[in-house]
Amino acid sequence: MNEIFAPAKLGPITLRNRVIKAATFEGRTPDALVTPQLIDFHREVAAGGVGMTTVAYCAVAPGGRTDRHQIWMRPEAVAGLRELTDAVHAEGAAASAQIGHAGPVANAASNRAPALSPSRMFSPLSMKAMKVPGEAEIRELIAAHANAALLAEQAGFDAVEIHFGHNYLVSSFLSPLLNHRRDKWGGTLTNRARLAREIACAVRDAVGDRLAVTAKLNMEDGRRGGLTVPESLQVAAWLEADGALDALELTAGSSLLNPMLLFHGDAPRREFAKVLPGPARLGFRLVGRAFLKEYPYQEAYLLEQARQFRRELSMPLILLGGITNLDTMNLALTEGFDFVAMGRALLREPNLLRRIQSDAATRSACVHCNKCMPTIYTTTRCVYRPERTIIDLDGRQRA
Ligand SMILES: Cc1cc2nc3c(=O)[nH]c(=O)nc-3n(C[C@H](O)[C@H](O)[C@H](O)COP(=O)(O)O)c2cc1C
Repeated sequence: MNEIFAPAKLGPITLRNRVIKAATFEGRTPDALVTPQLIDFHREVAAGGVGMTTVAYCAVAPGGRTDRHQIWMRPEAVAGLRELTDAVHAEGAAASAQIGHAGPVANAASNRAPALSPSRMFSPLSMKAMKVPGEAEIRELIAAHANAALLAEQAGFDAVEIHFGHNYLVSSFLSPLLNHRRDKWGGTLTNRARLAREIACAVRDAVGDRLAVTAKLNMEDGRRGGLTVPESLQVAAWLEADGALDALELTAGSSLLNPMLLFHGDAPRREFAKVLPGPARLGFRLVGRAFLKEYPYQEAYLLEQARQFRRELSMPLILLGGITNLDTMNLALTEGFDFVAMGRALLREPNLLRRIQSDAATRSACVHCNKCMPTIYTTTRCVYRPERTIIDLDGRQRA
């Protein structure tokens, strides 16, 4: 059997293979609760053969959502999530919950709760200044991550993935561009990394060895003055030394300042402009080209940076970004990565892995046009794939 398809340990759990469905916010939760459509989405991915699917996005607080159509972890959400994890398990896959706080990426107007940023900053999404959390609020945020992990455990998840990327809250604390604090949560890298480290330890203390705990970490923000690879390497080394995490998934870019670095490929400017909320749409007309830069797509496009992490760390690492066929998966293992994560290729074809298992030469039909990106505002999907039901932002279903 190809090594990629052999069972593999991820901390306390064993996955049936080394392929993880990366978090792609599903846009199927208009009331911030699980819907049958969300269950179907993950059931289909699980039936398609992955070792583990990741439910995105499970915010740790109502204001930690990018907008109010996302789940936030609370007791009312558990029963639906339990149905979802049962459905995933019935297909032989494991389930991970991506937990986190969107921080400056949150739409305060939609959430009806302030967006948080490490330092004073204006939100182009809600046209308001964001709130800067003080010591007590930071402590509450750390506790909220631990609580969300406990709720994920109650809901039957096998793992939690903590979001330390894309300039969401923790990633914005790591970023020298966004974090100008003068207290113990800002300034030196030691201080900027404190929130990530404390959250990882709090989550581990909460769930012990009952769940795998991973984090999705930015290797770089991709903006001048933002987090760089050398700084992120140091943060990763501290996270490894703390021993709270079972693996790191390596990402790059900023949903706030440089989203295309996450994806590479075509910049879907026209499609994006159409779905943005009013004030943001106006700004996008002016700066769209600079905001959605184009990075040429190639398979394993984050490998060069990720290699540096592989060299410096001994903990398990998950390679992400442009992994769509068996050759690239094998390359990842040869380079010393323990798992691979796949996003867009599985939106295009949830059963891609099964097809690769039966024919090693299978190629993905995903053309990295990135038109799936703006579909997060309605129902996340590949635009070249028929979708039975689309849920509008106001919760209405369109056949
Ligand atoms: C439609 C869409 C939604 C996404 N939503 C999330 C998300 O909620 N959380 C997250 O960490 N990453 C999110 N991502 C990023 C993916 O997890 C992944 O980092 C990125 O797509 C690169 O992997 P790929 O080349 O396999 O697609 C999203 C990506 C897409 C295309």
